[in-house]
Amino acid sequence: KIIPVIMAGGKGTRLWPLSRASAPKQFIQVVGDRTLFQETLERVADPDLYEAPIVITNQDFRFQVAEQAREVGVDLSGILLEPVARNTAAAIAAAAFFLTARFGEDAVLQLLASDHEIDAGAHYRKAIEIARDTALSGKIVTFGITPTEPATGYGYIEQGEALETGAYRVKRFVEKPPVAKAEEMLAAGGFYWNSGIFMCKASLLLSELLAFAPEVYQAAQDAVSNAATDLDFARLDEASFSKSPDISIDYAVMEKTSNAAVVPSTFPWSDLGSWDAVWKLGEKDEGGNVVLGNATVVNSENSLVLSRSTHLAVQGLKDMAVIASEDAVYVGRLDEAQEVGKLVKKLAASK
Ligand code: GDD
Ligand code: MG
Repeated sequence: KIIPVIMAGGKGTRLWPLSRASAPKQFIQVVGDRTLFQETLERVADPDLYEAPIVITNQDFRFQVAEQAREVGVDLSGILLEPVARNTAAAIAAAAFFLTARFGEDAVLQLLASDHEIDAGAHYRKAIEIARDTALSGKIVTFGITPTEPATGYGYIEQGEALETGAYRVKRFVEKPPVAKAEEMLAAGGFYWNSGIFMCKASLLLSELLAFAPEVYQAAQDAVSNAATDLDFARLDEASFSKSPDISIDYAVMEKTSNAAVVPSTFPWSDLGSWDAVWKLGEKDEGGNVVLGNATVVNSENSLVLSRSTHLAVQGLKDMAVIASEDAVYVGRLDEAQEVGKLVKKLAASK
């Protein structure tokens, strides 16, 4: 069976003011009645296919993780805690060492970002089955999403020759290209976006990390062997883990490995990384507005209006986002949604 490893230690700031340093994107409810982390848990709840999931996250989020898993009735097989944030390469390396000790080095891990909206229907299941066969044949498997615009926030995967399993070799992996390069790849064709989900044998992940990111490998190995466990939590050793470079798995391994494969994926996928993405995905009224929570809208077009607190009433808006959280209000044009991070930086600096 596949062992799900849920990565839930990221900081995502572009959904401010709903996402906060204390409650990043994966732990908040954006559309539906579940948080993105809870939806991720439910996606791997099929006992025919999966073992109980483990979650790797920052120690600051340990209670949110435990509480949100309890709310959806998912039993975790463990929660691995990072004492400091060192990005996804170190988190994944630590999880791979931790799980190798428990399940052996041939264990197939599915690494899942927890900040996505995915429709896990029949298409998803089919993709997972192809990925499992491909992972067992000795590949790091990615899931390719058909790109719709030259987005700069994703990894790009160039499809190579067909493998027997129904997946393809990866010719090239380019993490977060500048816009000109993204446009080039879109025009050339044959590229996918990286979905943020990977599947691989633990042993291959570790040997690629050793080859391409030896400092990450060493830090994670030491942090796991010196970890302290209490109840469901395993706390990585701080002195060892801190020595890891801060680098994502995409730069550390995916851009460098020659053992990657891609499963072209047709399941509905959204990164939901910014307010324009939430508007795109949301259910529209006759004016094209997405109205969520405690809000009323008249005479407006193509706007996103969301309140999680006081009643929000808007009139005569076009192409706008108006978001009210418990203690802050954001008003901005939807075509500025990628820039919310700048505002968050300015706010942090002025505190
Ligand atoms: N445990 C842990 N520790 N998790 C982390 C850490 C960390 O230090 N940093 C990030 N994560 C988690 C995030 O919570 C998220 O679920 C996932 O790892 C991916 O991290 P992001 O920071 O959201 O990455 P990204 O969105 O910029 O890029 C990745 O995802 C894209 C798709 O959304 C890359 O894999 C891209 O190639 C990909 O296209
Ligand atoms: Mg992300």
